[in-house]
Amino acid sequence: MQIDLIALKITAEIETIKEIIALMAIWKPDLTSRRGPKYLQIVEALSDDIAAGILTFGDRLPPHRELAYQLSLSPNTTGRAYAEAVNRALIRGEVGRGTFVRGPATEAPALESGTLQRPANGPIDLSRNLPLPGLAGEKLASTCIELGRSGNLAALADYQTEADLHRHTAAAMLWLKRHGVASTAEETVITAGAQHGILCALMALCEPGDVLLTEQLTYQPLKAMAARLGLKIAAIASDSQGPCPEDIDRLCRQRRVRALYLTPTLHTPTGRTMPQERREAIATLLNAHGVHLIEDDVFGLFHPGRQQPIARLAPELTISITSTSKYLAPGLRVGFVRAPARLAGAIRGAVNLSCWMTPPLNTEIVARWIGDGTADELVARQLSAASGRQALARQILGEHAPRDRAAGLHLWLDLPDGWSADQFCVRAAGRNVLVTGGEAFAIIPSAGKTSIRICLSHEADAARLETGLSVLRHILDAGPRQAPLVL
Ligand SMILES: Cc1ncc(COP(=O)(O)O)c(C=O)c1O
Repeated sequence: MQIDLIALKITAEIETIKEIIALMAIWKPDLTSRRGPKYLQIVEALSDDIAAGILTFGDRLPPHRELAYQLSLSPNTTGRAYAEAVNRALIRGEVGRGTFVRGPATEAPALESGTLQRPANGPIDLSRNLPLPGLAGEKLASTCIELGRSGNLAALADYQTEADLHRHTAAAMLWLKRHGVASTAEETVITAGAQHGILCALMALCEPGDVLLTEQLTYQPLKAMAARLGLKIAAIASDSQGPCPEDIDRLCRQRRVRALYLTPTLHTPTGRTMPQERREAIATLLNAHGVHLIEDDVFGLFHPGRQQPIARLAPELTISITSTSKYLAPGLRVGFVRAPARLAGAIRGAVNLSCWMTPPLNTEIVARWIGDGTADELVARQLSAASGRQALARQILGEHAPRDRAAGLHLWLDLPDGWSADQFCVRAAGRNVLVTGGEAFAIIPSAGKTSIRICLSHEADAARLETGLSVLRHILDAGPRQAPLVL
């Protein structure tokens, strides 16, 4: 009896000690220097303590009533704080067990499959010029979690704030600098990708009836944009170095030319890169005729030599178009434009008119990636994947592959005698491989009829790319007179 009583007393004391230890370990936020509603102060303290490692994945939080008692607040306030923290994916409640600090990206079921995929069956698609998928997916999942914890999500779902615009513009300037373009905040415009940037530049620069010059083979949507804006598009003759200066000079003397659209580095579709002298000759002509240039540098970072943009030679007449689509994630639709200050306002006006603003949430993701080194990593991975795929293509296509232009996401193939691009595309499609005939890029009827573009990065699986390229090689080896396939 005596012994039983002593045992009971010891057990009770152990329980008390356990409670004291538990109370010592209880999370109690320091709210002394925080401002704003109390419940948000608690959420912010929670987020800061997770970021600082004071709280880690799986840590148990005190029941909200306990926390209310500790902080001398009402249970309503702490209950609201916990509800908001659940919303922001900082914590999770488990029925009957308590409230716990949430884990890293993989713990969030909706974001678990963080890879970007493209169809792994159906025709092998070498017709679409997109970056390799999958590289940004895992980053996107963790960035979304971080954003959820940042407390700024609601603001990012709203119209852009001045503070966000300021940060996004700073990131845009860094990206432009990577392309060799110096830009001030006033000169920098954020667009929904390069295509939108080009459209806005045209809207800002041109009036119906103006003449827009470009190469005979050019970025596909340009022709439709010009038609929609009532512009007359005229073709510049090109040689192996790019658009011929004499032809630009002639056209500027004969026509009411307002602007040129050019892709000096890794030209779409031919992949050709203009040498420095050609860039200088074009800059001289811009100044001589007072004509503007829309310089599209979407593929610029893939070029190993990093050519000097024409914008550096004629900054007052050049609008620089860049985009994160080919390096980070095309679906985010974020591009950056630099224009002389006198034009930047009109380009911003065109952005407002067409979509009011680039979605702030997407721009925030890209700005974070530019600021925290993720963009560096993704660019490096795209570049390395692209050069691996270029090497693979050259190896498989052998003597059919172009000799130069071993960079970027696509290659341009001049077909052997006897082929038309149409005929080749139909033959390839009959064997389950899609490529684009050169005529799709032509603004005059005679251009591109005997060439095709092969895109190397749309297919996620290298084995499918290899099969596709082997099929193309086989078709090339067999020659055009092989009996057509019955489709
Ligand atoms: C030359 C060129 N400019 C612009 C774009 C459009 O890029 P974005 O996806 O950023 O609109 C492309 C896309 O293929 C392109 O090839």
